[in-house]
Amino acid sequence: MSNLNIQIHETAFVTSTFRSQNEDLSKDMYAKLWKNPRTTIWVEKYLDQVCSEEVSAHCLRNRFFLEEIERLQPEVLINFGSGFSMYPFLLSDDIIHIEIDKEEVVSYKEKKIKEFQKEGKLPERNIHFIGVDFSQDYVHILLEKLLLLKGKKSSFILIEGVLFFLSKKDTEKLFEFFSRLQEKGDYIGSASFQNELKASKAFEKLLDFCNKEMVKTEASDWQTVEDIFYKENANYDLINHQDYFSLSKKHSNTIKLEKDLILNENFYILKKIV
Ligand SMILES: C[S@@+](CC[C@H](N)C(=O)[O-])C[C@H]1O[C@@H](n2cnc3c(N)ncnc32)[C@H](O)[C@@H]1O
Repeated sequence: MSNLNIQIHETAFVTSTFRSQNEDLSKDMYAKLWKNPRTTIWVEKYLDQVCSEEVSAHCLRNRFFLEEIERLQPEVLINFGSGFSMYPFLLSDDIIHIEIDKEEVVSYKEKKIKEFQKEGKLPERNIHFIGVDFSQDYVHILLEKLLLLKGKKSSFILIEGVLFFLSKKDTEKLFEFFSRLQEKGDYIGSASFQNELKASKAFEKLLDFCNKEMVKTEASDWQTVEDIFYKENANYDLINHQDYFSLSKKHSNTIKLEKDLILNENFYILKKIV
């Protein structure tokens, strides 16, 4: 592997570039701030070698979670593996934002956001950045920090575009952590691929691309997650489940490729019941 390979955190630039390519669909007019020449090359390669509908898929994902958070009106939005997503600037200014990702991502994001705000490209928002690696031992310190920031306020935890890179064990640990952190009536928004997608041509192409072009971490297993993981959580009810096809219908997005060539991602909203 050379340093020409994509590092895990660089996938966040790729996601933002997808969102910037159809602002009408994503409703994200700030994603373009993260564009850079290295990512542009990766995006072109990915769209060509894996799936050309990934722009629409990522735009619809952003749109779905944006509208759900707007509708559910949490006081605090906690974004796990937040990358360079721009929800703080797309949502009303009274929400408290906590953005969690690897240290190098959050420190770069914080620095760039300050620059963009100085240049008048972004409005002011209440954002806290926390550097954490979900494959390391974080529970005690992170719980303490988050409880201090969140108090008893209502919360929405978002985890999108992340579980693919984590192990099952680290995923289960995260969802147990979410339950310790949240109160009854709070929400989780999660995105993941289902196991059955593994049989598709699209997933085969994705794995080929990832194994060839990405730096794989020890913890990452290119994970898929079953509906049952969300449905049978003792602390949460699954209250909304969408995928690329249902969101395309809702937002009149024309599906161009046949099903086998599409990386269909599933989107879940869970509500805490205990
Ligand atoms: C594809 S990006 C998605 C970013 C963002 N959620 C979005 O949708 O725009 C994946 C993100 O997960 C983060 N990530 C992956 N593995 C992680 C880990 N073990 N600990 C913390 N963050 C991780 C990466 O740094 C990256 O920002």
